[in-house]
Amino acid sequence: MRFDIVTLFPAIFDGYLTQSLLHKAIQRQLVEIHRHDLRDWSHDPKHHKIDDRPFGGGPGMLIQAPPTVECVEDIERASPVPARRILLTPQGRRLDQPLAEDLATSPRVLLLCGRYEGFDQRVLDILQPEEISIGDFVLNGGEVAAMIVVDAVVRLLPGVLGDELSNFDDSFSRGNRMLEFPQYTRPREYRGHRVPEVLLEGDHGRIAAWRAEASLQRTTQRRSDLLPDQANTNKHENSPDFG
Ligand code: ADE
Repeated sequence: MRFDIVTLFPAIFDGYLTQSLLHKAIQRQLVEIHRHDLRDWSHDPKHHKIDDRPFGGGPGMLIQAPPTVECVEDIERASPVPARRILLTPQGRRLDQPLAEDLATSPRVLLLCGRYEGFDQRVLDILQPEEISIGDFVLNGGEVAAMIVVDAVVRLLPGVLGDELSNFDDSFSRGNRMLEFPQYTRPREYRGHRVPEVLLEGDHGRIAAWRAEASLQRTTQRRSDLLPDQANTNKHENSPDFG
């Protein structure tokens, strides 16, 4: 899978792409991540400016349409694989696990990161990207949101996680749209807290039943909106048990 990330701050991604799982996935050529500095498409040869004041007045600056549209067109031409265009914005569809799973089936995803007050509307009108938000809060730009998209998607690509099934039971995932059950490792007892006996007995049927029940209980307490056949009420936001 290939990601193209359009940003005014390509260096923001340096640490993230050179560590841990992402680094390994890139080295093993399971994913390619190309960063593109939008300033390289500036029409201002002297200062490489790509922003300007909004017509009609108002605070802040907007990213101009010509460099952005031309940048995306040039990047797309560099590979014959058609790209799914995504613009990171708090106004977009909320990212969730099914959307991450869907993106993981795309051979190529282009991520447009906004800054300042966002893009000139004609960027959206001409490029018609999907708009994705990572939550109902405003970040300083789309870069952190883009990293979150990359992170959520890359771990779903075949071969990226050691054990092919290890993302299957994760909270919200295909194998389990509810929250994950609690997990324990050694020691068996720590500061008076004991590992539940059933997990030590080796009876896989009982362990599976215990985990299913624990997952259901946790989801009921914290995220009842995730229970099957429940309206999406977001009750968890005020739940005293959430933590
Ligand atoms: N850019 C600024 N805030 C954002 C958000 N919440 N999601 C995605 N992109 C953003």
